[in-house]
Amino acid sequence: MLHGKFITLEGGEGVGKTTNLTFIKTYLEAHDISVVVTREPGGTPLAENLRQLLLDPASEAISEHAELLMIFAARAQHLKHVIEPALARGDWVLSDRFTDATYAYQGGGRNMRASTITALENLVQGTLRPDLTLLLDAPIEIGMARARSRSTADRFEAEKMSFFENVRRAYLLQAELFPERIKIIKANQALVDVQNEIISSLSTFLR
Ligand code: TMP
Repeated sequence: MLHGKFITLEGGEGVGKTTNLTFIKTYLEAHDISVVVTREPGGTPLAENLRQLLLDPASEAISEHAELLMIFAARAQHLKHVIEPALARGDWVLSDRFTDATYAYQGGGRNMRASTITALENLVQGTLRPDLTLLLDAPIEIGMARARSRSTADRFEAEKMSFFENVRRAYLLQAELFPERIKIIKANQALVDVQNEIISSLSTFLR
């Protein structure tokens, strides 16, 4: 039995995930909830190694299937060694990205079939899905400018603008398909307003 709740934070590049992840953790802890914060791809030593290979622009050309399988291999480790044990203990898990990112980046960005992703999702996760997903959404020009000013581009950030348009569209489609689970947060407004929207979703969820 999994007693804790599983919350994921999603969004394109440069939408403010890191700042808001800390904000959500602090908010939950203020409500006496013990929170394990983690990220994808990553969260275990093997999964972090896979992340490095996935993000390294110097990696050999990675085929779409190899990329998808590496992401789900990392996810399988992350679930088995971090997420499921935490939920079983009754802790809550807050993950910076999860499988909605695969529908967005590999499905939208790389144009892979949703049914292929769903097959791996069912294989690796069984029936486990996040209980709540907050999707930070902003026009891509805003996020890309922020992401590019931060550091040199990783293997995904180096993609064309059309890739990120497709990522955003696929995220919004996920939100349309799962309106109960996925809450869209408008990320192109003042931070205080973004965080008020987050609080509003979290307090409804806590009730
Ligand atoms: P981030 O730390 O900026 O979230 O970087 C992770 C990158 O990995 C980001 O560009 C999105 C990408 N990614 C996928 O392509 N598919 C996935 O399933 C996940 C979790 C991440």
